[in-house]
Amino acid sequence: MALESTKAILEKAKREGYAVGAFNINNMETVIAVMDAATELNSPVIIEVTEGAIRYMGIKMASNMVKILSEDVTIPVALHLDHGKKWETILKAIESGFTSVMIDASDRPFEENVEMTQRVVEVAHNAGVSVEAELGRLTGLEDDISVADREAFLVDPEEAENFVTLTGIDFLAPAIGTSHGAFKFKGEPKLDFERLKQVKAKTHIPLVLHGASSVNDRLLGEAKRYGLELQGARGLSDDILKKAVDEGINKVNTDTDIRIAFTTGIRKVLLQKPSVFDPRKILGQARDFMKETVKERIKVLGSRDKG
Ligand code: G3H
Ligand code: 13P
Ligand code: ZN
Repeated sequence: MALESTKAILEKAKREGYAVGAFNINNMETVIAVMDAATELNSPVIIEVTEGAIRYMGIKMASNMVKILSEDVTIPVALHLDHGKKWETILKAIESGFTSVMIDASDRPFEENVEMTQRVVEVAHNAGVSVEAELGRLTGLEDDISVADREAFLVDPEEAENFVTLTGIDFLAPAIGTSHGAFKFKGEPKLDFERLKQVKAKTHIPLVLHGASSVNDRLLGEAKRYGLELQGARGLSDDILKKAVDEGINKVNTDTDIRIAFTTGIRKVLLQKPSVFDPRKILGQARDFMKETVKERIKVLGSRDKG
């Protein structure tokens, strides 16, 4: 199939009450792992690339790999620009056939965020491309966070309502206590669900959870076995993630879990088979581990058999 509109995928998820995984890719092995996992579970899927991934492999490589592979499957596949910050990259992604782009101006004052997002929405919508934007700053929610910090970092529901009205975005990523990477929380993981509920009630568009990797014990155990050092790593439990989906999250971004699976696969082969130097044997194991991880995520998000 040709690429599917991200908006169509996420509006369906919103109507039916589940979330679709948006998986970050940086190379061919990861695209294949994600596509295979989604196909086996008959799930819609969003493949996303950051500006860093584009610098690494080029936008042509990224978009063509995804387009070509999507031709051979029957599940809906969308292609998304994750954390777009540069105007040129956003334009290039729109020209290259991405089905959605994120404008990430969340580190700017509210008015500037609105202004930049409005500009992106105008160009993207003219090309039939949907737009995600972010409000608040991604930072782990700790027990000792002060009320002032909580208000400064996390999304303000009133502001979210105004932002959506002023910009006409299609999806909103509200900061509710997650952060990127493998070290999300020092204490017990928790999210501000009350805030999420309020944002949902005031915005009525699909919501996105960034920094949603599980960094779970299975991944960490295996990673440790093959020598990856991730002392103190902690992510989002399946229960917390399921609750976030129940409260209105429809797009869930995952990068870190895939990175850990990839590295673990490579380490395993290099450690257990010191005489192997065929890249296909090394990267093949990495691909298999990533596929397992993506399948785990799809099952938690509830998008299995929604393809
Ligand atoms: O937010 C997305 C990623 O986890 C960071 O990715 O290193 O490609 O910018 P990046
Ligand atoms: P993780 O670091 O939790 O995988 O988050 C990825 C992400 O939000 C990409 O935009
Ligand atoms: Zn993110």
